[in-house]
Amino acid sequence: MKRKARQEFQAHGVRALLSRHPAVRRLKRERFPTQHGNRFWSSSWVLMDYLGRSGLPPACRVIDVGCGWGLAGIFCASRYGARVTAVDADPDVFPFLRLHAGVNRVDIATLRSDFTRITTRTLREVDYLIGADICFWDSLVRPIHNLILRALRAGVKGVLIADPGRSPFEAVGESVLSRREGEVLTWTTSRPRTMHGRILRLGDGFR
Ligand SMILES: C[S@@+](CC[C@H](N)C(=O)[O-])C[C@H]1O[C@@H](n2cnc3c(N)ncnc32)[C@H](O)[C@@H]1O
Repeated sequence: MKRKARQEFQAHGVRALLSRHPAVRRLKRERFPTQHGNRFWSSSWVLMDYLGRSGLPPACRVIDVGCGWGLAGIFCASRYGARVTAVDADPDVFPFLRLHAGVNRVDIATLRSDFTRITTRTLREVDYLIGADICFWDSLVRPIHNLILRALRAGVKGVLIADPGRSPFEAVGESVLSRREGEVLTWTTSRPRTMHGRILRLGDGFR
């Protein structure tokens, strides 16, 4: 008998629906994310693994920038009860995010915004800024550099940006670390499979 291909999996306590899942297929017929927000990316698992080790204070406020399908923020809400705002320039990612928030039984606020337009007022209401796989074009280096510095000036306690280690990410790391104290870590997760990544970490908010 032919075995049915799996439609979802779970890692780091987060349920993730695969493209063959009927609800994802339905959304993919109607919504077309254009800036790589068409699936979840490996750096979000690397980030979850790091956050699972470092911890977050209960009920802290997190902004997940370039959230895509939002799994990293969903992890923060589900594991730590964080109040999460997920931000993306592409509104077509939000139905996928809401689907995943629903199956993971968490509430996530969404905000459509470009990195350059996230206001200081929004950042003042946040404890942690996270992002996974958001530095993939050279043109994103300056906007992400500026966003991180704006966030720290606004009082954000900690920043974590995870990436496979592309050159724009390394450029953001270099430019931000020339202005602020922090580090770029190499991190590996074994779930849902072995994946390596780099994490830019700033601030003293992580345990
Ligand atoms: C490679 S995906 C990563 C999505 C998610 N963080 C993950 O790890 O699965 C990059 C995301 O950044 C968003 N994005 C790209 N440029 C952006 C910008 N200038 N401002 C805000 N979001 C942007 C895209 O729409 C996309 O959802």
